[in-house]
Amino acid sequence: MKTEIERRKTFAIISHPDAGKTTLTEKLLLFGGAIQTAGAVKSNKIKKTATSDFMEIERQRGISVATSVMGFEYNGYKINLLDTPGHKDFAEDTYRTLTAVDSVILVIDAANGVESQTERLMEVCRMRDTPVIVFINKMDREGKDPFDLLDELELKLNIHVRPLSWPINMGERFKGVYNLYEKQLNLFSANKTRISEDIISFSDLSDRQLDEIIGSDAAQLRADVELIEGVYEPFDKESYLRADIAPVFFGSAINNFGVRELLDTFIRIAPQPLGRPSSVRFIQPSEHTFSGFIFKIHANLDPRHRDRIAFLRIVSGIFERNKFYHHVRMQKELRFSNPTSFMAQDKSVIDEAYPGDVIGLYDAGNFKIGDTLTEGESMQYIGIPSFSPELFRELINKDPMKTKQLEKGIEQLTDEGVAQLFYIQPGNRKIIGTVGELQFEVIQYRLEHEYKASCTFMPIAFHKACWITSSIKTKLEEFISRKQTNIGWDKDNNPVFLAPSEWLLNLAKQDYPDIVFHATSEFKQTAQHLS
Ligand code: G4P
Repeated sequence: MKTEIERRKTFAIISHPDAGKTTLTEKLLLFGGAIQTAGAVKSNKIKKTATSDFMEIERQRGISVATSVMGFEYNGYKINLLDTPGHKDFAEDTYRTLTAVDSVILVIDAANGVESQTERLMEVCRMRDTPVIVFINKMDREGKDPFDLLDELELKLNIHVRPLSWPINMGERFKGVYNLYEKQLNLFSANKTRISEDIISFSDLSDRQLDEIIGSDAAQLRADVELIEGVYEPFDKESYLRADIAPVFFGSAINNFGVRELLDTFIRIAPQPLGRPSSVRFIQPSEHTFSGFIFKIHANLDPRHRDRIAFLRIVSGIFERNKFYHHVRMQKELRFSNPTSFMAQDKSVIDEAYPGDVIGLYDAGNFKIGDTLTEGESMQYIGIPSFSPELFRELINKDPMKTKQLEKGIEQLTDEGVAQLFYIQPGNRKIIGTVGELQFEVIQYRLEHEYKASCTFMPIAFHKACWITSSIKTKLEEFISRKQTNIGWDKDNNPVFLAPSEWLLNLAKQDYPDIVFHATSEFKQTAQHLS
């Protein structure tokens, strides 16, 4: 088991849309031999032009099951690359996926630098101290000055960086990169199908041969490297693992340039599967009993069968097929006869899986995001929260004959994490909260197609949903009765304050010091366990 854990690396690639995440994913899979042709992953993208094309979303949903986990073998390592949706309206999906990885590779477009989505995603990584490797892409195009890019990364992302490779010019004049760690020159040639790289060792940059190879750029490279070695501390793996420092590589994913050195460094330095905090203690991967958590659910891929796949990240022990496991929230024993592993495009039934692995469990409606499976212990993984939604609408049933279908549909879609559901009284009105506009359209479309129910949405002026608790029961009751019109109840019947504005939220915090306002549902997991 120890060997199996040590040879695993579970990570995600994150980027602002268009920086090159899909292209880099594809090249990594090509190296791993997991796919044979370029273009295989490409289809897993919601095109910018098709943001309101639901058929496209549906098609993507089908594809994204296949690409949710892309496992491949490389140099004796088992690498699990988890896919994250690029579209900003699905950001919450990405945040949850980040709870299931141990490190990330961040792709930056050399011309655009740090973009809005990059900043939001990095905030989540920082919250969790996830180690980050940066890949600055598209060096074959004119981009920003590399030193400026490093400054921008430090400033906007609030991280320390350390270049491990350095570009020699850019755009049409891009000659390649100098690997500062291996002391090697990696020469660039534009070629989308290249596999091998043209590498020359240069332990001493003053070597005249450098001038012969890269001509007038040699002087600039020498000056740049001298500056880097003077300004930046030597790279320290431990600082990277603590998420204090992010190593930076330059390359061109489309030309498969700099990708192998990124991958080779990744397997050398990226963390092996890490443990996770639970409601009772920190669980180490080496613990002998199996445990894991659900971070993603895909439902109703085939409308004729109510099938769902729940994605489980294994944290400790060995998962075995056909063995009974304990579903902690439901206090129920479950057995899985077809647990699935994912190797790039292929799915296969597995007999066992190890910490760091992600497996798909076919499910008839037992799972919600954040659920924990164990060998019997009553503990719950924490840190897989629902985030406070930012957009709210009231759900209106358009067809009273289909009330049951609507109820069931919305129940299942919210279990899947598409949106959050709150009830307000009187009248049991349903408020849907999301992080993006697109989700409302997705809900409407899926209710109609999968549940034959039809709905519309009414605008409602809420700004934020905060779960509320208090150590003094009467204080909570008083708050709830005073704020009646702004109190909602989540699916587990926890009270939620639906604040009309930031200002009124702050006022409520001041006026009611005994009430705790939670921006994520995190508190629930521990509370449920303790209750
Ligand atoms: P994403 O998943 O982060 O959204 O980005 P994706 O890989 O789809 O890349 C976005 C665009 O950038 C694509 O062009 C892709 O070909 C291009 N690209 C990726 N890496 C490089 C690189 O190293 N150099 C250059 N010059 N371009 C790169 P597109 O026109 O949107 O798509 P396509 O028609 O090429 O498929």
